[in-house]
Amino acid sequence: MPLVCVCSPKGGVGKTTLAANLAWSLARAGSKVLAIDFDVQNALRLHFGVPLNDGRGFVARSEEQADWSQSILTTGGNLFVLPYGDVTEAQRERFEEKLAKDPHFLRRGLDTVLNYPGLVIVADFPPGPGAALKAISSLAEMHLVVMLADTASVSLLPQVENNRMTGQPLNNQSGHYFVLNQSDNRRNISRDVTAFMQQRLGDSLLGVVHRDESVAEANASQQSVYDFSPASAAAFDIELIAKRVASILKISVGNGEVPAPIRSTHY
Ligand SMILES: Nc1ncnc2c1ncn2[C@@H]1O[C@H](COP(=O)(O)OP(=O)(O)O)[C@@H](O)[C@H]1O
Ligand SMILES: [Mg+2]
Repeated sequence: MPLVCVCSPKGGVGKTTLAANLAWSLARAGSKVLAIDFDVQNALRLHFGVPLNDGRGFVARSEEQADWSQSILTTGGNLFVLPYGDVTEAQRERFEEKLAKDPHFLRRGLDTVLNYPGLVIVADFPPGPGAALKAISSLAEMHLVVMLADTASVSLLPQVENNRMTGQPLNNQSGHYFVLNQSDNRRNISRDVTAFMQQRLGDSLLGVVHRDESVAEANASQQSVYDFSPASAAAFDIELIAKRVASILKISVGNGEVPAPIRSTHY
């Protein structure tokens, strides 16, 4: 059960966008994919066409539902989304507290999906360290750390390298990798930071995504960047990253048996 965590020390860097488009791309390549949102902003679902006023989600229902898979929504194909849901601050605090204090809470919640044969899970996180990222890390096969091609991201690299995200090395299975987002060759700083990151991170830099208006436009129209603008630079970049993720995780694409459908709710 390959589980990829998309995280970053920084906010607004493109974690949710990458998580959503990575999920789309892996699903298009033939995998059954579940995208899980661990951010109270509850924005991941918006990339999958879930209406703004649909506040359902596993955190919103976690007090009455121990099995979070009951809150999975289907997008139609072999792509599923588990939204965080619309929660009060008190609900968020209780959820975080359980994550931090009960070592089995997260595993119980995800037990059904973790045991689903062949399911690829892409999990999206809020910026910085947090209880969910910490609780899930031992189950994760891979972490993708998203950074921007700017100097603030360079200054935050030591946070990742010095175990500040979870208190432990980020991933002890297939490793942690970086994605540099919003790289723009027309801007000197962006060009210099991209070159610096390529040199500094070497093979752990999984890919560079160009700054591309079609990313935001695809999001606004609730489509993947491939469907919205298949020939765009960002679609090409993210597709390449998805191929690299699939290869590192040895995800077989487009063959094998199709497992039974996940129990999920249409919206
Ligand atoms: N490659 C890109 N080119 C242009 N805009 C982008 C790109 N990646 C993300 N964005 C935009 O940046 C903003 C933040 O992205 P988001 O995925 O919400 O970040 P995060 O989840 O890290 O907070 C969004 O408006 C998104 O559309
Ligand atoms: Mg986000």
